[in-house]
Amino acid sequence: MKISFAPAPSGDAIAVPAFADAELSEAAKALDGSTGGALTKAIKASRFEGGAGETLEIAGPSGVDASRIVIFGLGKAGEVTENGLEKAAATVVKGLLTSGAKKLSFTVDGQDAECAARAGLGASLAAYRFDKYRTKLTDNKKPSLAEVEIVSGDVDAASAAWNTWGPVAEGAQLARDLVMEAPNILGPEEYARRCKELTALGIEVEVLGEKEMKKLGMGALLGVGQGSVQESQLVIMKWNGGNKGDQPLCFVGKGVTFDTGGISLKPGAGMDEMKGDMGGSAAVVGLMKALAGRKAKANVVGVVGLVENMPDGNAQRPGDIVTSMSGQTIEVLNTDAEGRLVLADALWYAQKEFDPKFIIDLATLTGAILISLGQEHAGIFSNNDELADNLFSAGKASDETVWRLPIGPEYDAQINSPVADMKNLGEGRNAGSITAAQFLQRFVNDKPWVHIDIAGVGMNAKSKDPRQPLFGTGFGVRLLDRLVRDNYEG
Ligand code: BES
Ligand code: MN
Ligand code: ZN
Repeated sequence: MKISFAPAPSGDAIAVPAFADAELSEAAKALDGSTGGALTKAIKASRFEGGAGETLEIAGPSGVDASRIVIFGLGKAGEVTENGLEKAAATVVKGLLTSGAKKLSFTVDGQDAECAARAGLGASLAAYRFDKYRTKLTDNKKPSLAEVEIVSGDVDAASAAWNTWGPVAEGAQLARDLVMEAPNILGPEEYARRCKELTALGIEVEVLGEKEMKKLGMGALLGVGQGSVQESQLVIMKWNGGNKGDQPLCFVGKGVTFDTGGISLKPGAGMDEMKGDMGGSAAVVGLMKALAGRKAKANVVGVVGLVENMPDGNAQRPGDIVTSMSGQTIEVLNTDAEGRLVLADALWYAQKEFDPKFIIDLATLTGAILISLGQEHAGIFSNNDELADNLFSAGKASDETVWRLPIGPEYDAQINSPVADMKNLGEGRNAGSITAAQFLQRFVNDKPWVHIDIAGVGMNAKSKDPRQPLFGTGFGVRLLDRLVRDNYEG
């Protein structure tokens, strides 16, 4: 979607805001004037009240060039937020995407440049489609809307703000594409190849194959991938936008390109969703793209462990004991608790190699996080209050919200093993997300660290958020971009 900024509307569709109790904005009033009162008349004839999320469309108004007008609600006039505008723009764009309208002029009446840019972000996120395999879409089912023009009082300031938000939209779209992609296409090797394309943005990309990982002693990660015909990969991406010598921020992602469960095979129903078990890694890759795209002033390293968890004659068995890169041994009691095995080695590698300022991992790690938080918040677990608080604030600001759950030695008893240093499974179903996080913490050395469990929010086939497509949400890109933007640049 092309996003532009202009002082006056020129689109064939014009959207203007109204506030609570159907109070018209200045732009809406002006339009009401030139259309002979079409807006007030339409509002009277409807139940439109100007609340957030409400829209009212007027087709074929007279007195203006535009062929349709959309009035959108923003709630109480004094309480409009950047997220509110983002959502409003998304709602309007979703409604017009395949309507026949070609260019939307979306007016952010009386809001600042940051709000204007965030409306652009909402529009861009809402326009996302994954149509590459739909060869029989008829023309009237394809998107018609090609451009969204944000009408704003200060075009220069809004365009400048967009230079930092446009790349965030692109990063989120990349993350979505990766999650949406079919698992026969996006195995670890193809995934690594797509990561390499980021070199075009000035990101350094290094790929380790099984031979290199074996040398490093990554028995935990390699065990997960050993039942797959695809070679496991570890991809390291570096963006050096900060001062030379500044400690990097490090992001680590779980990239299980398909999770059958392995020999501890998952039930068949719904297993297709496990193509999204690489959502954590997709957020990291998308974040790297966003940061490089807006030339973030920070040194950032992204590390993703890419494996396919398959059952096969060479697959890992329940009962196997593997030795991780840290030297700690793990009894694999359930081959479906594979994400923590991948992260164990990726986390260790990232700390050892880069001595980061902090380390944040993202993973579609446990079904249990859906039981705890549903699909409304990601779960976070941390050894550092400041970093966890910063992430919480970034969640509020970006509308990719997180909620903290505890970890602590009291959970260790559940993951101790009688035959190895630990087992990859807690006891019973209680606190399943916490025991997984507690397992990960054993691979973190003193560094400020947060684990984000996105099993609930990374894939959402029933999302009601107008900014999100169904299934691959791209969760994490906006959250982490915001964290970096607000706390760790310059
Ligand atoms: N990838 C799954 C977690 C998951 C479940 C993600 C549902 C998204 C939606 C993970 O690898 C897994 O299988 N976890 C097991 C752990 C259990 C065996 C301890 C789970 O949550 O059931
Ligand atoms: Mn699993
Ligand atoms: Zn998994």
